[in-house]
Amino acid sequence: MVSSNARLPSAWTIADALKVRADDPTTTMPVIAQNFPVMDDALWQWDTGALRRITGETVTFKGWYVMWSLVAERAQTGDDAAGWHNRNAFAFIGYYYSRNGIDWTFGGRLLNTSADLRPDEWSGSLIMRRGSENVVDMFYTSVNTDVNQSVPSVSSGTIHADDSGVWFEGFTATTEMFSADGLHYANASQDPYFDFRDPHPFINPADGQVYCLFEGNVPGMRGDFVITDREAGHLPPGYTVGEGAGYGAAAIGIARLVSSYAQGDFSRWEMLPALVTALGVNDQTERPHVVFSNGLTYLFTISHHSTYTGGLAGPDGVYGFVSRHGIFGPYTPLNSSGLVLGNPSSAPYETYSHFVDPLGYVQSFIDTLPAPGTDPQAPATYRIGGTLAPTVRIALEDDRTFLTEVHDYGQIFAFDEWAASNQPDPRPAT
Ligand code: FRU
Repeated sequence: MVSSNARLPSAWTIADALKVRADDPTTTMPVIAQNFPVMDDALWQWDTGALRRITGETVTFKGWYVMWSLVAERAQTGDDAAGWHNRNAFAFIGYYYSRNGIDWTFGGRLLNTSADLRPDEWSGSLIMRRGSENVVDMFYTSVNTDVNQSVPSVSSGTIHADDSGVWFEGFTATTEMFSADGLHYANASQDPYFDFRDPHPFINPADGQVYCLFEGNVPGMRGDFVITDREAGHLPPGYTVGEGAGYGAAAIGIARLVSSYAQGDFSRWEMLPALVTALGVNDQTERPHVVFSNGLTYLFTISHHSTYTGGLAGPDGVYGFVSRHGIFGPYTPLNSSGLVLGNPSSAPYETYSHFVDPLGYVQSFIDTLPAPGTDPQAPATYRIGGTLAPTVRIALEDDRTFLTEVHDYGQIFAFDEWAASNQPDPRPAT
């Protein structure tokens, strides 16, 4: 069915991406220390998110900070570089809890294994159900890499806590939310490298309805896309679009919940046209998420150096777009180029999977750090991360962002809870 929403996606253009500059100190992650601490010796840990409300704010539960992480057992994958790079086939969603948002205890697996429809669990969101005391909806991506399937899915349960820790009950069934339809978003038969994952539900303040962002690709046959002026933007004289540009076809997807949120029914969604596409620019815009701030709508997404196309380049990191007219745009790239926080060129793969919360705190994981003195682009030796990076903070100022603060490794903040409870501010003095 063709959507009633007939708007065109906004384009992240080639001309925008030509403005990406590595190592600008306002849009670059700090260089991570070689002796960074590892949170969990038994597990590789990567994509992570705090327990949050559907309106975005990070929450605590009975005084505990809670976060989910994609994890894999080092004993299963191998506790070395090969094991780390092999982790995706062993990924499941675990949770951690903490008294102070800094020191974390692993709590175990969230989803009951019997509820798993496919071998792997990839990223999503962990959300307190609005209007309930302790119902939690766990959105995730149900993945089978062997047959190229990935389906945004949800399982519901309850959260519990006492003085000694946090635990969950339920999560015994999975509901598939929606699939790549080949009409709004590319499916596996159009594009064997299609991406369709990372559900991020939210309430749109403008209409009070529940929507879900996700990572997708522009529908159509891979390799057949023609780059028009719309995708190119205002190119400098003599610039010719690079070969292979059309292999970049990332899309920030959106769907609207049709079934009842209050009843926890996530089975029916209306697929809508993408919010932003990167046709001609980049093939992956992952973990898209939204922040509503000062009357503006900020859309963030993570992307890789390796997924740029047509000779374009930019660092691994978090990119963003801003709209003055609400969730449906039109969007323009933040900082003119779209780059919000990239890795420094001296450590180009040090962090990934950045998540920006409504207060501007940005959480990410450590991927690989080149050994000192080696060529950072092709290091002979490097240290594998598999643990959380220092949390940083950015200021959102109209259509620009600035790196302003660096905090502890894996630190999470839940500002609104402190304000509501009149507790002393638990953040370390900075
Ligand atoms: C981002 C990502 C997500 C995916 C997960 C799989 O780091 O690629 O898109 O859900 O990692 O590990």
